[in-house]
Amino acid sequence: MATGPDHPAGGTDIEVQRLQRLFRFFAATQCRGRSPVYETLSEGIADDDTLLDLLMATPGEQRRPSLLFAAVNLLLASDPGSALADYYPTHGGRRPVDGLLVPTFAAFCAEHRDELTRLLRSRSTQTNEIRRCVALRLGLDHVHRLWPGPLALVEAGASAGLNLLVDRYRYRVGGQEASSAVASPVTITCEVRGSAPAGQILGPVTEITRRLGIDRHPVDLADPIARAWLEAFIWPEQAGDLATLRGAIDLAVSAPAVTVVQGDATADTARLLGELPGREPVVVFTATLLSYLDADARTAFVAQIEQAAARRPVAWVFAEAPGLVASADQGLAALTGPLAQRNSLFLVGASLRGPGRRDDALLAMADPYLRWLAPARHETDDFQWLPAHANAG
Ligand SMILES: C[S@@+](CC[C@H](N)C(=O)[O-])C[C@H]1O[C@@H](n2cnc3c(N)ncnc32)[C@H](O)[C@@H]1O
Repeated sequence: MATGPDHPAGGTDIEVQRLQRLFRFFAATQCRGRSPVYETLSEGIADDDTLLDLLMATPGEQRRPSLLFAAVNLLLASDPGSALADYYPTHGGRRPVDGLLVPTFAAFCAEHRDELTRLLRSRSTQTNEIRRCVALRLGLDHVHRLWPGPLALVEAGASAGLNLLVDRYRYRVGGQEASSAVASPVTITCEVRGSAPAGQILGPVTEITRRLGIDRHPVDLADPIARAWLEAFIWPEQAGDLATLRGAIDLAVSAPAVTVVQGDATADTARLLGELPGREPVVVFTATLLSYLDADARTAFVAQIEQAAARRPVAWVFAEAPGLVASADQGLAALTGPLAQRNSLFLVGASLRGPGRRDDALLAMADPYLRWLAPARHETDDFQWLPAHANAG
């Protein structure tokens, strides 16, 4: 189970205002068009100092809307008869959002204040969004075209390591079945934006020789509490996603093929890559890792990739906010323009580095949860044709 250090509750006005902005931003850019429950709650929490104050128990870098929502969701799972559960389809609720949602949420938080504070003080964000495997497959395809042959796969910020099972899932992209290596009980779906023919977006599955996850707080799927915490990050309307996550967890537990080691991606990546046997190129995948790192740590992570690539070909495949990629690595020419401002979307790209060579490609823009993907139309596509908001179109 992921835990963080204890911090005393209490925050400055500046921090409360930062949280207000964060909840409003979250409502507008992440929830709108996707989760009426979290959109309404985020707006309500932004206007309620008592609710905002709950997150003051949380260590600074973990003060995020998703942490409060997950803590409440976890408690709801053991209190499904509560009035709040009526609004959560994942807990069997059917009540549409109305004017009582925010007061009902506030009452639930007041009733469970001690447990909530304990959770918010001790837990950290732990999601594992296996839809991001669509971005990973796109990256693997690209790397494989330039470096044919088997690839080793490492994910930095791997959580439970479910993305490392990228070749164990079925894919429906743009309504079309993509080629799979195996028959799988887990199907990942992703819409397509733009004019790319859906059937050609993902190529044949690349052979993966070995898999390793690195995470500051790896999730132990054998621990029912850790598993419940991971599931608590699924949003109220995403009952299908909850079933998919549970399927992937069952797959991972029944056929363990993945190791996730405890480590800091900004300090341990080069060493861990150095310890990997074999000589095949290594793909290092990151998805939402950069948002956990400050500017110095982002630069340090890229330096780790560089260091590893001095010994063995390494491709960094990322699904990250473009501005964060730009700040981590000044070498991506396409990110010097307006693309780097579009941080409500994710950029999927690959940066291949070997001794004395480097090859960068921006492959797609996507919704951060990979509900949809817009493949690049040509090599220097700046995606200005794509609508500005994640949930638009
Ligand atoms: C939002 S989760 C995403 C997990 C996975 N990449 C996905 O897309 O589903 C981010 C993960 O990064 C991990 N993390 C944050 N900072 C890290 C660091 N410096 N080194 C290693 N892992 C880190 C967190 O513990 C968490 O598991």
